[in-house]
Amino acid sequence: MMNIEDEVDNNSIQNFQIIPIMPEAMGVFHIAKEKHLEFKIKIEQILNTADDKYRGHHQSKRESIGNDRFQNVLLDFPELTELHSILKNTALNFIKESGYLCDEVIITDAWINKYPFESTLPNHRHANSYISGNYFIDYDNSINSPLVFVNDRHITSHAPSIKLEADPSKPTPYNKQEYTIVCDESMVLLWKSHLLHGVKTPEKGEGRITLSFNVMPKVVGTGKQFSFAVSENNRV
Ligand SMILES: [Fe+2]
Repeated sequence: MMNIEDEVDNNSIQNFQIIPIMPEAMGVFHIAKEKHLEFKIKIEQILNTADDKYRGHHQSKRESIGNDRFQNVLLDFPELTELHSILKNTALNFIKESGYLCDEVIITDAWINKYPFESTLPNHRHANSYISGNYFIDYDNSINSPLVFVNDRHITSHAPSIKLEADPSKPTPYNKQEYTIVCDESMVLLWKSHLLHGVKTPEKGEGRITLSFNVMPKVVGTGKQFSFAVSENNRV
């Protein structure tokens, strides 16, 4: 029979455990160096010559090509057809390797970003998208600012929200403010589109160029209920 001392032990701090559940998947992929250099030249040409209708100038000083719902650089610039197919396959592999059934994906949006000196990118999520990705086209992690994923336990912009101050003497995976992936040129990151992310360090260089894209499974559905299909011709 359990005595009082045992009961105290069972509820003591020594008997307490926190276990990590459901970790977030981040896909990391490198485009082969020769192919990457080919794509880099083509993307720099697009940045230099694209029509004004593709150009966006943002408050945070970021410049973009094709960041409009009616545009998609992977469809609108035929010289990026091979890159389109590589990114599609990579996204499909990411979904399959993380253990989900999917036969085909569609890249619903794709745009090029150029970050001039002192530019940033406010924290945001990608709406109306399942997987998002970033291809680092011109990037030197010793000069260019990192892409940062934010721990939304610290964010109060989505009510209702209850928030406590993190204990600086006790760093854990749960109270970490943010997660920075050290990236290299030619790298492709893939992640669930709801993750909050941004570039908060003002650019110290001039040349940071990335391509961002959103991915949807062609058929979105589970079991026998609730499904829909996404069309390649989705710019509506
Ligand atoms: Fe983004």
